[in-house]
Order: sequence, then C-alpha cells, then structure tokens
Amino acid sequence: MVERPYTLLSCGMSIDGYLDDASPDRLLLSNDADFDRVDEVRAGTDAILVGASTIRQDDPRLLVRSAARRAARVARGEAPDPIKVTVTATAAIEASAKFFTTGDGEKIIYCGSRTAGAARAKLGAVATVVDGGDPVDLHRVTADLAARGVRRLMVEGGGRVHTQFLTEDLADELQLVVAPIFVGDSRAPRFVHDGDFPWGPKNRATLAEVRRIGDVVLLRYGLSERFDGRQRDGRTGEGR
Ligand SMILES: NC(=O)c1ccc[n+]([C@@H]2O[C@H](COP(=O)([O-])OP(=O)(O)OC[C@H]3O[C@@H](n4cnc5c(N)ncnc54)[C@H](OP(=O)(O)O)[C@@H]3O)[C@@H](O)[C@H]2O)c1
Repeated sequence: MVERPYTLLSCGMSIDGYLDDASPDRLLLSNDADFDRVDEVRAGTDAILVGASTIRQDDPRLLVRSAARRAARVARGEAPDPIKVTVTATAAIEASAKFFTTGDGEKIIYCGSRTAGAARAKLGAVATVVDGGDPVDLHRVTADLAARGVRRLMVEGGGRVHTQFLTEDLADELQLVVAPIFVGDSRAPRFVHDGDFPWGPKNRATLAEVRRIGDVVLLRYGLSERFDGRQRDGRTGEGR
C-alpha cells in the first residue's frame, strides 16, 4: 500500500450546503472563535492543500496567524507555516497571488502533464512545479507529499477538491462547520459535487464530535481506520 499523509478535510458551509455565494466577494461563513480553531488545526499540520479555483476566488494566505503557534512550531523544529500545496490542470494562477507572496515556506503546484512546462516557466520562480499526471492524480499527489516528509495534510477546499479526496477514499477525517445561514442559490459552489462516496447507507461515517462554537457547529467525522478522535487539539487523529 502506498504511504500517504494523514489527511484532514476542513470546510465551512451554509445550512443548505454551500461553500460560498455566487458573488465575486468571499462569503464569511464562520466566526472569530472558529477561525482561531482552524488556525490551531493548521498549526498542527505539515501541509495545506487548496484547489486552484480557491486561489483565484479567495486569494487566501494559508498561514498560521497566531505568533505563539508559529513559535511553538519553530520550537518543535518545524517551519513557522505549513507547506502550501495546490492542484491545477490549466496553471491559470498568477504569481502575484497571496498563496505565493505571503510566508517564507515552500509552495508546491501539482500541475497537469500538458501544462507542466508552461507552469514551470510561469511559476517556477515562486513554487516547486510537479507533473501530477493528466488529469492530476491525487493518489500520486499524496504519495509524493509523503515522500517529501508530509505526515499530516489539511485540505481546505474547495468543493471539487473535497469531492475528489472523499470519492477516492483519500480522507481520514472531516471537520465540517455549519454556519447559521442559507445561500439558496444553485449557482454557488457546493461542499461536494456528484460522486460515488465510500460512505452511504451501508457504510455510515463515524460522527466523533459535535462542538458548538458560538453560532456555528463543528461536526467531526472519522472516515478511515486511521482516525483517532479521542484528543481535541490540532493533532487529533494522528495516523498510526
Ligand atoms: N467555505 C469554505 O470552507 C471554503 C474553502 C475553500 C474554498 N471555498 C470556496 O469554494 C469555491 C471554489 O471551489 P471549487 O469547487 O469551485 O474549486 P476548487 O476545488 O477550489 O478548485 C478546483 C480547481 O482545482 C484544480 N483541480 C482540482 N482537481 C484537479 C485535478 N485532479 N487535476 C487538475 N486540476 C485539478 C482545477 O484548477 P484549474 O481550473 O486551474 O485547472 C480546478 O478547476 C470558492 O467560491 C471558494 O470561496 C470555500
């Protein structure tokens, strides 16, 4: 069996299952306390992965915000921030995106074979560009990340990326936050798309924790035998 990192999917969604609305502006679904919780989870990971559309739409920094958590990582011998990772078939990402311009840590782009050369020319100065297959194969991506020393991977969306990690059975844990709003617009991106998910009526996922955080609720699901939900800190579910 190919080694892969312990993989934790993190997502905030509306009551009706949307990740965002259909407007160009980012919809803030969570609250300050939950953003801080996510920061703690980030601080416990080796790499954070998002889809290229999330970079284009949200322009996220994907850094650990808390100075104390950054210092604790350094004290453990780690970089202040996790490695940033993205996947793209088109390489239609700009070098000016905050994904590349913020933080001193490593950035890795898994690119489709046909665009890998062009991606290296365009983004090779700001990131490591890796040919991920055509289309990019997430099994190959996660195996490559493990080979680079990534033991814990946090996947922060969007929906197309979450769908693939789930349907390809590459996820060990899901941390799903439900915000008390409806989006009510089918043009908006959903948490997941259609697919053949391993968890259905005959194979229910394990609900490990329900936590109220102000006006949102965190649902933690165990998705594999590697999940260990007994702890509550950022290192929960360490793979065996
Ligand atoms: N609420 C939350 O927690 C949260 C978190 C993150 C994002 N979001 C929202 O989610 C939305 C974006 O989600 P999304 O589903 O549209 O997109 P996404 O999952 O962020 O990214 C999809 C893109 O990633 C690349 N990609 C994914 N899998 C690939 C593969 N196997 N091979 C090659 N390329 C691959 C492709 O990029 P190319 O098109 O470049 O080829 C694809 O278009 C945004 O509105 C954002 O605000 C919400």
